Amino acid sequence: MTTYQAVYQSWQADPEGFWLDAAKAIDWIVPPKTGITETADGGHEWFADALVNTCWNAVDRHVEAGRGEQVAIIHDSPVTNTITRVSFAELQQRVALLAGTLQAKGVTKGDRVIIYMPMVPEALFAMLACARIGAIHSVVFGGFAATELATRIDDATPKAILAASCGIEPGRIVHYKPLLDGAMAMARHKPDFCLILQREQERATLEHGRDFDWHEAQATATPATCVPVEGNHPAYILYTSGTTGQPKGVVRPTAGQLVALSWSMRNIYDVHPGDVFWAASDVGWVVGHSYICYGPLINGNTTILFEGKPVGTPDAGTFWRIISEHKVRSFFTAPTAFRAVKREDPKGELLKNYDLSGLKYIFLAGERADPDTIQWAEEKTGKPVIDHWWQTETSWSIAANPAGIELLPVKRGSPTVPMPGYDIQVLDEAGQPVPAGTLGAIAVKLPLPPSCFTTIWNAHDRFEKSYMARFPGYYETGDAGMIDEDGYVYIMARTDDVINVAGHRLSTGSIEEVVASHPDVAECAVIGAADTLKGQVPVALVCLNAGVVRDHAEINNELVRLVREKIGPVASFRHATVIDRLPKTRSGKILRATMVNIADGQAPKTPATIEDPQVLDEIRQALLTLGFARTDTQMDTA
Ligand code: COA
Ligand code: AMP
Repeated sequence: MTTYQAVYQSWQADPEGFWLDAAKAIDWIVPPKTGITETADGGHEWFADALVNTCWNAVDRHVEAGRGEQVAIIHDSPVTNTITRVSFAELQQRVALLAGTLQAKGVTKGDRVIIYMPMVPEALFAMLACARIGAIHSVVFGGFAATELATRIDDATPKAILAASCGIEPGRIVHYKPLLDGAMAMARHKPDFCLILQREQERATLEHGRDFDWHEAQATATPATCVPVEGNHPAYILYTSGTTGQPKGVVRPTAGQLVALSWSMRNIYDVHPGDVFWAASDVGWVVGHSYICYGPLINGNTTILFEGKPVGTPDAGTFWRIISEHKVRSFFTAPTAFRAVKREDPKGELLKNYDLSGLKYIFLAGERADPDTIQWAEEKTGKPVIDHWWQTETSWSIAANPAGIELLPVKRGSPTVPMPGYDIQVLDEAGQPVPAGTLGAIAVKLPLPPSCFTTIWNAHDRFEKSYMARFPGYYETGDAGMIDEDGYVYIMARTDDVINVAGHRLSTGSIEEVVASHPDVAECAVIGAADTLKGQVPVALVCLNAGVVRDHAEINNELVRLVREKIGPVASFRHATVIDRLPKTRSGKILRATMVNIADGQAPKTPATIEDPQVLDEIRQALLTLGFARTDTQMDTA
């Protein structure tokens, strides 16, 4: 039996050989001769000399191999009360036809296509159709507001937008089309056309000449064949939070993604062709890209597309129903989802109604998995609960417990060990590695493994500056933590202003920009405060312009509405409070970390450089009125 140590060492001994060997799991048009190449600007690319097509690998080759009748996608949608199954053969037809439609309307290799869709099979058809013709998709999460969509339209300059008429959240319809129309009106760039999937829950008004009905547009189309693309061709752009209001367009390379995701399906998630795999995330996030769409399909698995919530659709037993009904082998969700289930059904009573014998593992990622949640899930399900750590930038695990190789002992609070391809180092301020057990900035020695991003769309300088500049020779992950004596990695906090709200990555800087745009606001600070359900929630502390004598509650409500309108409901922004002044150093720097400590009920050391220590009491009082800063309750800090 192979061991993790043996596999990791084999990668260390010959990194290029390791990944060229893993590349054998992929069907190439021209196979790669070289693993890694250095680019003119000192960056790295994997399998750049190869020619390949992602859609072929995710769809057609399974049909060719006789698996056409196997279910590729199960759309389980408690919000519409439907379960739909799509076989690989049907998937091939649907994707080829959609790809042909895009081609006929002028979309070719390298063109960008924005996909703004809820959790319906057509969202996956759209991603795969782009991959089929070498178009670069950019999926935008449905919980973002029109302004965020407009920012992405202007940055990606898509030739087409594929959208649905609506999404369905418990208790409300999300009006996608008006959001899309609003974004198109705001954006400077004008796409050539939109394809709109009309859902029966809400039919959208189509703009003549620009918008086309999804099905009608395909009625006369010719199915497209797979277009070969170079190994380093961008597969997609996925926007993620940066430190400013301008999101970062993470660019995913084609061949690296194919190889690394395929490797991860077998070696991390321990699933083999024909197995059912379920990642309960959203196609708008990287988890959705890697493990709802590409990873499972490339590996010949059945993937589940879940349009619902862990609780309330209809109850906290939904996860267990789906796992048992569809015979899921490996299940992946975010800790926040389990915290929601645990809150509704602490004793796990609903679990008893279902047969989970086919389930082998539960994987958690997206935010720090607090030991209480892991313990609860382990006790109630009797399954290994595996934390693993990764980022939009990497698209697959930096650290994990490689269940497909060997299941290492779980240490609650640790996402386990570095995966092959990642030489993880904990560095001090001066960029020097620290001893085991010491906290520091977590960095990965360059080059990064296949599938990691190679640039930021339209902003290569930002890529260099944000990730590669602080520790030369390393990728700066933005996370802080440590590695213990057994080589287990611990992720404790972000080193930047990114916060993690219900597994969603948000920038406090971008929320601050919106709050500061309110006409009555003189200055503000947005911090991430610990929340027992969502891990963190954003809280705004706001100073008003001199002379503003309005009701504070009214201003707070306006701020909440403004953030919802400009960023979207996904920000979960509900807390704003007016204060007289912000805590600052004598040089004028706002002491955000000190406020976070106060919000989380800790007793922070008064910073020596503080202008006036008295202000900390005022902040504590303000946070107490919002329900934070309590020292009598144990908060689950994520
Ligand atoms: N489209 C439109 N709106 C969306 C949306 C979508 N795809 N997804 C979420 N929203 C909205 C929600 O309706 C909610 O709106 P509201 O303020 O009107 O109630 C808001 O965004 C916040 O959503 P969320 O943070 O997801 O909270 P919730 O109250 O809907 O559900 C949990 C709470 C814990 C059940 C939920 O956060 C959860 O499980 N999320 C899954 C976590 C996850 O998969 N993360 C991905 C990382 S891998
Ligand atoms: P995203 O790019 O949205 O996937 O968010 C990535 C960030 O989420 C990481 O940089 C971490 O801060 C956090 N994160 C993801 N997975 C974990 C984990 N298993 N443990 C701790 N933090 C995590």
